[in-house]
Amino acid sequence: MSGHVRRSVILGTGSELPSKVVTNRDLEKMVDTSDEWITVRTGIKERRVLEEGKGNADMAYQAAKRALKDAGMEAKDLDAIIMGTVSADYPFPSSACVLEDLLGARHAFSFDVGAACAGFLNALSVADLYVRSGKVNNALVVGSDALSRMLNWQDRGTCILFGDGAGAVVLGASNNGSGILSTKLRTDGSYVKQLYVPAGGSLKPARAETVRNNEHTITMNGKEVFKIAVRSMEEISRQALDEGGVSVDQVALVIPHQANKRIIVALAERLGVSMDRVMVNVDKYGNTSAASIPVALDEAKRQGRIKPGDIVLLNAFGAGFAWGAAVVKF
Ligand code: ACO
Repeated sequence: MSGHVRRSVILGTGSELPSKVVTNRDLEKMVDTSDEWITVRTGIKERRVLEEGKGNADMAYQAAKRALKDAGMEAKDLDAIIMGTVSADYPFPSSACVLEDLLGARHAFSFDVGAACAGFLNALSVADLYVRSGKVNNALVVGSDALSRMLNWQDRGTCILFGDGAGAVVLGASNNGSGILSTKLRTDGSYVKQLYVPAGGSLKPARAETVRNNEHTITMNGKEVFKIAVRSMEEISRQALDEGGVSVDQVALVIPHQANKRIIVALAERLGVSMDRVMVNVDKYGNTSAASIPVALDEAKRQGRIKPGDIVLLNAFGAGFAWGAAVVKF
């Protein structure tokens, strides 16, 4: 035993992407757009779409099983399941409950956290507090979204951006000096209507008219999101690094939310990090909302881009606006 404080450590990661691929060329046949426009403005080449008849928790289940296997654990070992999502299988109960049942994680309590693209970091932050406090020993943290279900496939301003996917990590406790060094979260609710789904909630429930008007689909002011995303992610990343006692130079890899390649490049420039230290897979999956960070983390690990002792910076920005960052030592 060392004299370090108890921290949450990432014991395993896993991810799942639906097999159906929708390319920019496919979208050219659906809306007035082009592969060139999408590539230049967003860096996205293709995205995955969940097949009909499947729900969010089906993807989360595959990602969770892989994360448990990677951690050398079984579902019965889990004390908690916390899932970042805004596209649950049902309005209620939570997708975390559906996932708990699929996994057979009978000893776990489970709930969803709704923070859109920042959902995984919000879920991770909550799980980290549970583990660090000693209230639980092992937690499954999931980021999983099926935003394809909330897209207006006639709106070229939004339907080109998003894709479906799920990622998961298993947290355990350790006092060997590694683990989650800091998490920082922020929101600014004055921006709610810059990026939201107008109908389907309690204010404007589902009616034939709301369906006719496409009000159950994502409505976004892309320019406003872009501008504030870059600035906010830089600021909160610096705060998380300060709190973790880490300098930017010590960061081996930045794993940003994968919304748009231009946002990622602008963020890297502002942080003073070269792109070889930044994980990018938005070209293959588009913006998978809460899934993007755990999917990218899992890929980075499998590609050998994260070694023991490496410090990784995670950061995200999304609807709310809600944003956050975390610093993790592997
Ligand atoms: N294909 C072709 N033309 C298009 C498309 C399209 N898919 N979409 C919009 N255009 C047109 C517009 O109509 C406009 O035409 P006009 O000049 O004749 O009016 C022109 O292209 C420029 O449109 P802008 O909206 O100004 O383009 P911009 O450079 O801002 O790029 C984009 C739009 C890609 C949405 C960008 O603003 C963006 O990425 N914003 C961030 C949004 C985001 O990532 N949201 C995800 C959730 S939050 C998060 O995860 C960070």
